[in-house]
Amino acid sequence: MGKKILFVASECSPFVKTGGLADVVGSLPQELNKNEKTDVRVILPLYQEIIANWHSQMELVTSIQVQVGWRNQEATIYQLVHQGIHYYFVGSDYYFERKGIYGYYDDGERFVFFCRAVIEALPVLDFQPDVLHAHDWQAGLAVAFAKISDPVKDMKTVFTIHNIKYQGIIPKDAYQELFNIPEEHIGGLEWNGLLNCMKSGIFHADKITTVSPSYAEEIQTPYYGEGLHPIFAERRNDLIGIINGVDLDEYNPMTDPHITSNYKYSRIKKKENKENLQEKLGLPIDSEKPMYVMITRLVEQKGLHLVQTILDEFLQEDVQFVLLGTGDDEFENFYFHAQQRNNQKLVSYLGFDEALARQIYAASDFFVMPSLFEPCGLSQLIALQYKSVPIVRETGGLKDTVIPFDETEETGNGFSFSNYNAHELLHILKYSLAIYHDPTRWSALLKNVNKSNFSWKDSASEYANLYQSLDGSFNKAY
Ligand code: GLC
Repeated sequence: MGKKILFVASECSPFVKTGGLADVVGSLPQELNKNEKTDVRVILPLYQEIIANWHSQMELVTSIQVQVGWRNQEATIYQLVHQGIHYYFVGSDYYFERKGIYGYYDDGERFVFFCRAVIEALPVLDFQPDVLHAHDWQAGLAVAFAKISDPVKDMKTVFTIHNIKYQGIIPKDAYQELFNIPEEHIGGLEWNGLLNCMKSGIFHADKITTVSPSYAEEIQTPYYGEGLHPIFAERRNDLIGIINGVDLDEYNPMTDPHITSNYKYSRIKKKENKENLQEKLGLPIDSEKPMYVMITRLVEQKGLHLVQTILDEFLQEDVQFVLLGTGDDEFENFYFHAQQRNNQKLVSYLGFDEALARQIYAASDFFVMPSLFEPCGLSQLIALQYKSVPIVRETGGLKDTVIPFDETEETGNGFSFSNYNAHELLHILKYSLAIYHDPTRWSALLKNVNKSNFSWKDSASEYANLYQSLDGSFNKAY
């Protein structure tokens, strides 16, 4: 019998997604379950949009009462098997039947409730995990509640940090009233006098992982640690970085139904995709024109301030630039106006459209991702699949997956720069353009791009080894 692992998370593809977390929680169990050593299942909140699309396929497991302060809130547990993976859902009219998934004044309370419900539901599920594996702050308290709840305290726990910037911080009076947590446990849950869900996960987990080796180092420093770096002084031996993979079936230019010409390595086919995109977006049609793209949430993390500083100057070169994404008004305004100024060279598509995103990956020569910080990053991996050369800042997972091109050794699969500095970005953009126009070097670089492979296989086996190293089990006597 394989080890039983329960993933606890707030997002999972294909049910609900706002970012890379959903991709990881959606594809890692698939890969892990190819190996008989592990049996992974997933538990998620039952949001309104999941009800709308999946409810008819679900089966009711049971209802439980979860104590929230002086009240009891009902949690209804459903299950569904999809593509061989067993999913559980925690339903609550009060907390989850709302539009969208985050952004409510009581988000903290909603996910504290979710975590409590997960732990209290464990004894009534037909699956008693050996390891509870929680992801990001929304699931952090599941780890804490597991450790302080007698029936399951022997179960082992893993906590994965996907982004330490978002911590789930709740004022003291709010949570004490809600969750009457025994005094002796408060210290493990608090940080600077506030309940901190991210810290609670880190503090209580048997093992902590994050999504790249470089980010595992970075979060121990004040610059990247978002105020939590001191706690790694005690936990650093239990912290490891495991790089994320990419779902090669999903992101495959050979079979992608959204793109005009499917291809594996063919530059000719890739150019057909470029011409099609140029036509669709109203750019001058010329398959030789170097195309730089960004597909991103428009938030500070993604390095947009750097791009803004040098965009007009870079667009004086003979290039095209396409940006797809939505986000903060500040950035949307900037890119909207930048397009007006440069309408023969720049398209800012301020929306999200999955099919168009795939067409942009397929059409592009360069994928620009100069993040301020990047725990792992998925887009640069997708870009490599679509043979678009990544240009990144050397941080987190970007540093671990994009190796700068070396002309003499002919090694490397992209371009990178080190400091968060707009002129370093401009310099590397101009350098990449010079390589594009040098046929020998360009094809040496593309050869390396073609060889890049970030499947989930190796990462999944690292997780499987981690689970094997944890010796513990659910207390069956309960
Ligand atoms: C977060 C991080 C991103 C990472 C993803 C999945 O969204 O910002 O870098 O790839 O989680 O782990």
